[in-house]
Amino acid sequence: MEKIPYDIILNIQRKVNIVDVIAEYLPLEQKGKNYFAICPFHDDHNPSMSISPEKQIYTCFVCGASGNVFNFVMNYEKVSFTKAVLMVAEKAGVNLNLKAENSEKKIDSSLEKYYKIFEIVNKFYQNNIKTTYGKKAVEYLNRRNLDDAVIKEFQIGLSFDDNSASKLLTSKGYSNEDLEKIGLCGVKDNFCYDIFRNRIMFPLSDLEGHVIGYSGRIYNGENDNKYVNSKESIIFKKGLLLYNYHRALKYAREKHQIIVVEGFMDVIRLYTIGIKNVVATMGTAITKEHADLIKKLSKNVVLCFDGDNAGQKATISALEALNKIGLDPKIIRLEENYDPDDYVINKGENNFLGHLNNPLSSLEFKMDVNKKNINFNDFVEISKYVNEMSKELEKITDKVVYELTIKKISKETNVDVDTIKALINTNIKEKKIVYEKPKVAIGNKYQKAEEFLVYYMLRSSEAIKLYQDNISYFSNRLLAKIAIQILEFYNKNNYINVTDFTIFLEDKTDLINEVLRIDKLNLPEELKIEQINDYIKTIEEGIVKEEIRNLKLKIKTESDITKKISYLEKLAKLKKECK
Ligand code: UTP
Ligand code: MN
Repeated sequence: MEKIPYDIILNIQRKVNIVDVIAEYLPLEQKGKNYFAICPFHDDHNPSMSISPEKQIYTCFVCGASGNVFNFVMNYEKVSFTKAVLMVAEKAGVNLNLKAENSEKKIDSSLEKYYKIFEIVNKFYQNNIKTTYGKKAVEYLNRRNLDDAVIKEFQIGLSFDDNSASKLLTSKGYSNEDLEKIGLCGVKDNFCYDIFRNRIMFPLSDLEGHVIGYSGRIYNGENDNKYVNSKESIIFKKGLLLYNYHRALKYAREKHQIIVVEGFMDVIRLYTIGIKNVVATMGTAITKEHADLIKKLSKNVVLCFDGDNAGQKATISALEALNKIGLDPKIIRLEENYDPDDYVINKGENNFLGHLNNPLSSLEFKMDVNKKNINFNDFVEISKYVNEMSKELEKITDKVVYELTIKKISKETNVDVDTIKALINTNIKEKKIVYEKPKVAIGNKYQKAEEFLVYYMLRSSEAIKLYQDNISYFSNRLLAKIAIQILEFYNKNNYINVTDFTIFLEDKTDLINEVLRIDKLNLPEELKIEQINDYIKTIEEGIVKEEIRNLKLKIKTESDITKKISYLEKLAKLKKECK
C-alpha cells in the first residue's frame, strides 16, 4: 500500500471523533471531560486508559500505550498504519480523493502483473490435480489424511512434467524474463521451461493473501529433494512472511493466541482438527520481521516446533527473538521426535489438545533443556545447572513462580533454597554495578532538561527555534530522534501541536509513546524564554560532560602517543570551557 500524504490523513482525522471510534471497540465510561476504558494493550482490570476528546488522544497510564485515532485502530486491529487510515476513513465516510487512489494503483501496478501471473498459474495447478493425471497426487494427500475440502481451502495443486505452465503463461503474453524473475520458469536459449515439475504445489501467500511463490513436494518416489521452494524474488521474501498469516489473523484475534509451528504441513494438519490460529516459519530461523509479525497476530504465543533436537534448537532461538521484543511465549515439546502433523496422526487429536491446554512456561522449558544433559551425581554439573537457572530466575517477577521454581530446583539438586537465592541476588547486584550506575549518573538533571525542552518544542515554535539555533542535539537517543522529527514537521508545516505531530509520526509507536508521556509532564503551559535558556545551558553542560567522559575513555585505551596527546589537549580545552 502506498503512503497516504499527511494532509489527507489530517483531513480524515478532523472528521472523526476518537471517542466514537474507540467506543466501537470498547465500553467507555465518562469521568469529567475525559473517557476511560479497560486498556486492551495489557492485562488490565481497572480502566487505566483515558481518552481525551479535547486532544483526540488515548493514553494508558499503566502500560504507556498511547496515540491518536489511527494508532488505536492500527494497534487494536493489528494492521499497518496505512490500512488503519483507510479503515478510519471508511468509518468516517470520507472518500479518499482520486489523487490518492490513483497514486496507490500506480505504485502497485508493477507488482500487480506478478500477482496476476500467480493467479493464473494457481488456477492451472489447482485444476491439474483434479484431472485423471492428478489421481496419484490426490491419493497421496488422502493417504496423509488430507481430504478434498483441505485441498480446496489451501489451494493445493499439481505441476506437470511437460512445461505446460510455461506454455500457458507465455501464450498469455508474459515475457520469459518476467516468468524467470518470479521463479516459476527457467530460460535456456530463449526456451522457457517449468521449475516445478511433477510436484504437489502448496501456494505461499503474502500478508494480504496474494500468492507469491510455491513449495512443491514430491509424492511418488522419494529420491529427490522433498521440497522445492520458489527462489527469493521482488515479491517473495521468505524472511518476511509466515505461512498462513492472512488466514490466521482473524482466528488469532478471536482466540487471543497464536501457535507457531515449523512446517506448513503442520499448519494444514492443525486446521483439519479445527485449530486455525496457527502459522509456520517454514523451516527458517525466526527473523526480527517474523517476530514482529507474530506479535501483530497476538501477544500470547505458543511455540510448537518439531520434537527433535533441531526443533529444540529452533525453539531456543525463537524464544530469544521473541523475548527481545517483549514477548514471553509458551512452549509445547512433543514426545518421540514427532512434528505436530505426525503427532496428531499417531497420538490423536486429544493428546495434542492436552499439550495445547497445558504448555510449558519458558522457564519450565529452559529447566528441561538445562537438565537434559546433566548428571545429577556430578557436583560440577549440578553447579552449572543451578547457575544457569539462577540467571533465568532473576528475570522472574511473579513471586509465586519464583518461590516454587527455586524449591523445585533445590529438591532436584539438594542445593539449599537459601544458597540458590543468594546466588540470584549476587547476579542481580553484579548487574546493577555494571549497568545501572552510568544510567543514574547521566539520568537526572541533563535528561530532565532535554525532556522539558521537548515539552515546549511540542507547543511552541519559539522553543523549536531556540533548540535549532543553540544546540540541535540531545544526548538521549530517543529524544534526539523526536527532535529531528519535530524539526521536519515544523519546517514542512510551519506550526506545531502534539496531536498533529503524532499523526505525522504515523506508526513510529516508540516515538509517539514518548512524545505523549512528555506531553503529560506537569509543567506550565506557558513558555518563558529564560526558562528555555536555562534548559539549553544545562543540556550543553551535559553534552560537554559527555564529551569529556568519552575523551577520557579514548585516552585510556589509545596506544598511539600523538593521538593520545591530541586527546589530552582537547580534554584540557573542554575542562576550561566547563569552568
Ligand atoms: P520438515 O522436513 O519438518 O517438513 O520441514 P514437514 O513439515 O514434516 O513435511 P512433510 O510432513 O514431510 O511433508 C519443515 C519445513 O521446512 C521447509 C518446508 O517449508 C517445511 O514445511 N523445508 C523442508 C524445505 O523448504 N525444504 C526441504 O527439503 C525440507
Ligand atoms: Mn511432517
